[in-house]
Amino acid sequence: MTIDKKFIDQFIKVTSKAAYASSLFIGKKDKIAADKAAVDSMRSQLNKINMTGEVVIGEGTLDEAPMLYTGEILGTKNGPNFDIAVDPVEGTNFVANNLPGGLTVLAIAEKGNLFNAPETYMNKIATGKIEKGLIDLDYPLNKNIKNLSEYKNKDISSLTVCILDRPRHKKIIDELKDLNVNIKLITDGDVMGALYVSDPKYNIDMFMGIGGGPEGVLAASALDAYNCFFQGSFIFKTDEDKNRAKKMGINDFDKKYEINEIVSGDSIFCATGITSGDLVGGIKLNKDTFSSETLVTHKSSGLNKIIKLEEILEANNT
Ligand code: FBP
Repeated sequence: MTIDKKFIDQFIKVTSKAAYASSLFIGKKDKIAADKAAVDSMRSQLNKINMTGEVVIGEGTLDEAPMLYTGEILGTKNGPNFDIAVDPVEGTNFVANNLPGGLTVLAIAEKGNLFNAPETYMNKIATGKIEKGLIDLDYPLNKNIKNLSEYKNKDISSLTVCILDRPRHKKIIDELKDLNVNIKLITDGDVMGALYVSDPKYNIDMFMGIGGGPEGVLAASALDAYNCFFQGSFIFKTDEDKNRAKKMGINDFDKKYEINEIVSGDSIFCATGITSGDLVGGIKLNKDTFSSETLVTHKSSGLNKIIKLEEILEANNT
């Protein structure tokens, strides 16, 4: 089964409107307000779609988040059954501080086909399309780098690796430096970091490091449409983390998940720019309209492109 193409435009509209709602808080130094605006908008727009959509990755559980919580059912309940993963604002710091790269992100798959990721960190590694067994989270870093360099027929010194700039990555960053690999450090937004490997125009050969698990699932669902490689392993630090994971059906805490275990079947991924970044431009306000740019993928039709949308500004646009 595939997801009907008619849903593509509807989901683009959802992320565009949420990005617009959040854009009203660009530079306001208020991450929570920027996020809440996007959450409220996304929820009301998703509820207009003829589907029964279950949030499998949301803003937390019902007691933490009254809206877009994991398990919430959205849509008119008159249409196909979908799994929904949302990140209403990916890069809340970017929006609050008026920095490039703030996105509204959404992934949809057929019911039961999107991994219900726990809210823990995930160790991730991603590249463009490669041969099986070439790159692995369990290999030493120098082996992954050497393998990629040979496979791409590129000197190690011309490879670029993207990684979140965090103290926890010091050892990896030092080792990449010793190997003479080019490093692209990002301060936030590792969905975008992972998506850099999807197109040679970004000049990123590998994305790696520890970031949010839900962000890993969202990135993997987009990378699936580009036939890229992604592997992720959750990090369960406390017994509480482990017990929560067990309740979600995860018993092997060291398991490495590849794309086909994170998302299967057909899917749609939308990422709309709130602030302009490398992937997409941000929300632009015109006299009576706002315009948005959305990176959209649809696995079954092979669609992956940037869609520009112009929407009339209404009193209650969100
Ligand atoms: P928010 O948009 O929720 O602030 O997340 C931004 C982000 O950079 C993610 O892209 C990334 O997965 C995560 O935070 C990394 O977490 P931490 O800041 O704790 O290292």
